[in-house]
Formats: sequence, C-alpha cells, structure tokens
Amino acid sequence: MNSKKELYSKLIPKVSALIDVNVNIIANLANISAVLKEELDCLWVGFYLVEENQLVVGPYQGPVACTKIEYGRGVCGKCWELKEAIVVDDVDLYEDHISCSADSRSEIVVPVFDSNNNVKMVLDIDSVDLAAFDAEDKTGLVSIASLITALL
Ligand code: SME
Repeated sequence: MNSKKELYSKLIPKVSALIDVNVNIIANLANISAVLKEELDCLWVGFYLVEENQLVVGPYQGPVACTKIEYGRGVCGKCWELKEAIVVDDVDLYEDHISCSADSRSEIVVPVFDSNNNVKMVLDIDSVDLAAFDAEDKTGLVSIASLITALL
C-alpha cells in the first residue's frame, strides 16, 4: 500500500470514531479539523459553512483565515459552485485564489453534501508545499466528507 493510501485507511476510521451524532455539528467539525491537522501535514485545515449566498468560516486549525467567501469566488466558492473537489497544485497559478496566508502554496477543497445533494459546507486544506495533494487525498477526503453527510 502506498503511504497516502495507508494514511487514509487509518484516518477514515479515526474520523468515523470521533463523530458523535448526539452532539451538534460544530462540536463534530471542531474535532474533525483537529484530527485532520494532527494526521495530515498541512498549514490550515477547516470548514467553510454555507450560509445563504456565501461561505462563512467554521471550525478550523491553523492561521487566521478570511471570514466570508462569496459563491463562486476563490477555490472554496468554486468548489461550492461546481459541487466537486478541486486540487490546486500552485495557488499562485489559480487566478481567483483567495490568499489567507502567504505561506500557503497548494490547496484541496472538497464539498460536503446533505442527503439531498446540496452543498452544506466545504472542507479546505492548505499546505506550505507545492502540489502537496493528489488523487489519493481527493479520494480519502471525499470519504471523510461523506461521513459528515451522516450528521446533516
Ligand atoms: N484559499 C481559499 C480561501 C480560504 S483559505 O485558504 C483558508 C480560497 O481561495 O477559496
């Protein structure tokens, strides 16, 4: 097994074990962002929650981030619009990238759907390294996003 496959094969059950359907979504997202920060080599990891026509920052770990992102804007808003994960190898080459930290060089954003296939939030992860995220991350993080769907 390659190292990322192995990483996610351990991380997904950890996230699953942390999820508590008897507490609110913010408590769950707080713990999920903490375990992702512990297990993934990243600068920033957290959630932006859909609130009316914009994304609003939710639980996260890492440097202070922007509070609001409009629909379709930045990598996060585009992920919401397209309803699909986006991997950015070099944030400087992504035209509409919203820079929250000058240290961020690459990024992955994954949508989290409710049971009606509406995007309710996005999971955003930033790295100080170029091209830190690949198809294995996308597969692993989409699985983690689907665990969150069970809470919505
Ligand atoms: N880079 C994101 C903004 C959020 S921060 O990375 C935490 C974007 O372009 O949407």
